[in-house]
Amino acid sequence: MKYGRDILKDVHGYVPGEQPRGQRLIKLNTNENPYPPSPRVAEVFEKFDPEWLRKYPDPVSTQLREICAARYGYDSPDWVLIGNGMDELLALVLRTFVDPGDRVIATYPTYSLYEILCQLHGCALTYVDLDEDYQLTEEFYNTPARLCLLTRPNAPTGVAVPREAVERLCTEFDGIVVIDEAYVDFADDSCMDFPQRFDNAIVMRTFSKSFSLAGMRIGTAVANPDIMAEFAKTKDSYNMDAISQLVGLMAMDDYAHMEMNAGAVCVTRERVRQELITLGFDVPDSQTNFVLAHWNGTPTAKEIFQQLRERGILVRYFDHRRLENALRITIGTDDECNELLTALREIVG
Ligand SMILES: Cc1ncc(COP(=O)(O)O)c(C=O)c1O
Repeated sequence: MKYGRDILKDVHGYVPGEQPRGQRLIKLNTNENPYPPSPRVAEVFEKFDPEWLRKYPDPVSTQLREICAARYGYDSPDWVLIGNGMDELLALVLRTFVDPGDRVIATYPTYSLYEILCQLHGCALTYVDLDEDYQLTEEFYNTPARLCLLTRPNAPTGVAVPREAVERLCTEFDGIVVIDEAYVDFADDSCMDFPQRFDNAIVMRTFSKSFSLAGMRIGTAVANPDIMAEFAKTKDSYNMDAISQLVGLMAMDDYAHMEMNAGAVCVTRERVRQELITLGFDVPDSQTNFVLAHWNGTPTAKEIFQQLRERGILVRYFDHRRLENALRITIGTDDECNELLTALREIVG
């Protein structure tokens, strides 16, 4: 069983207090957004009155659910649940729909927190390997389980399986299909309509990436109201504080700001991907705000990671099967990415 700092290290690749002090860091290791959130979010803090905090917050985040439902194409907030970050919703989905000892499936590789959450819940996570192009195999459709966790687009690969593959999964899989859309605002399409079409589909999103609000902890889940009624029973009564609800509302109300930032990240991502390919990296087409850059030369990927770190540039290295020859690089501002590329040219060029 892993605790505290081990989990931080596994999931994020570092423990905050361990970072070198006083050194300017270019942080391209945890898939945060390099651009600020909407100015509407700043307004919340400019107008902030501590009196707002005297009372308990709305336990069911009504306004935020309403605006999200409308944006996601649903006619009622009964389809939406708000969580304290998507990580809370992922833990809740296991608690609600999976008994300890049951089987959960996920692709390999995928978001590393799933394994930790399953360990904490006492259920068995079975990984089914993605194929060489990071696509689902027949085995994935055929493995029986209570629940399936599918990240689309996937992390840390950046690759999205086609919508048709998820459609087939929702039809053939005899259990709940959780579609983790943490990075979907950087992608070409989404599965947000699936809960309307498939009773077993739950789509989850986060405000941490495209809305530049990782520090705030806001996640959403969308599913059939019957599923939602069960799901909502397991959350803490006041899981969303008053400020998070307001900030989420403002951010959602200024959707165009999020789209503009996400668009800028995607433009930089394509340039960085091409430059990495020119340097000799193999980089699959990414639908996220990061790229997975495979490297089979000298120095090794792990050595490149360490040399970048010495220069104050943090990227993500996974000492895991199929990922040991790769770096996951978050797309930062153009300047940050230029510094990264200059450093990489010196290291591998
Ligand atoms: C695939 C995936 N899902 C969920 C999350 C967690 O989102 P949140 O910050 O809302 O907890 C992350 C964060 O890195 C992620 O990569």
